[in-house]
Amino acid sequence: MELYEAIARRRTVREFRSDPVPETSIRRVLAAGLRAPCNAHLKSWQFVLLRDRDRRRRAVAEGLGARDMKDPAEIERFLQRFTDETLKAVYRRSLPRQLSMMLEAPEVLVVFYRMKPLADCRSLFELNPLASAWMCIENIVLALAAEGLYGCTYTPYDAAGLKEALGVPPGWEAAAIIPFGYAQTPPEPNEAEDVASRLHVEAWVEPGVSV
Ligand SMILES: Cc1cc2nc3c(=O)[nH]c(=O)nc-3n(C[C@H](O)[C@H](O)[C@H](O)COP(=O)(O)O)c2cc1C
Repeated sequence: MELYEAIARRRTVREFRSDPVPETSIRRVLAAGLRAPCNAHLKSWQFVLLRDRDRRRRAVAEGLGARDMKDPAEIERFLQRFTDETLKAVYRRSLPRQLSMMLEAPEVLVVFYRMKPLADCRSLFELNPLASAWMCIENIVLALAAEGLYGCTYTPYDAAGLKEALGVPPGWEAAAIIPFGYAQTPPEPNEAEDVASRLHVEAWVEPGVSV
């Protein structure tokens, strides 16, 4: 598949068919992740695949406190803090699936990266290991799209419980937990964005105005 086709096809999906994902696809996807650019050529990344349902429950339900928010009244109370309707629509779709997507997906991948404690970082530059982990994750989600697969990048607020449940050594952080598989209903590509409305040439002036 062409790169631009994979970029267009990539979408977040939280409901999966039960069909198994071929091991060869998983290997290709992870190999694509490992080709990502990274700070200082460190590639300090490790992957954990979670297949056992009980282990997943311990890691994400007990460890992270992930849960499905199903009660419409609770969802609307949560959404009161936002005004943007697009954002609210995303949350209405996603909040009821935060745990079940990770329990039901045929595969769940956790991407770990090594970084010093956040409290010891004094500049954005020192967050480069996290930025690099997301380069790896972007390659992974694009490679999933190229394989006809879909996933969701769940970001833990506090991963201490997950790390304990999985026996992760000190110094490693979880960038994202990615349930993936074949989509229950493959989504349409996102609408193409208008590049011109965001592009400033030479300096940050209103688009279309020349300096
Ligand atoms: C950094 C990051 C964090 C995200 N965290 C979550 C999350 O915790 N739970 C979730 O369901 N989706 C999460 N998403 C998925 C976004 O909701 C999704 O990418 C966005 O709505 C755009 O939809 P699309 O991926 O289909 O284009 C995250 C995406 C990114 C890039």
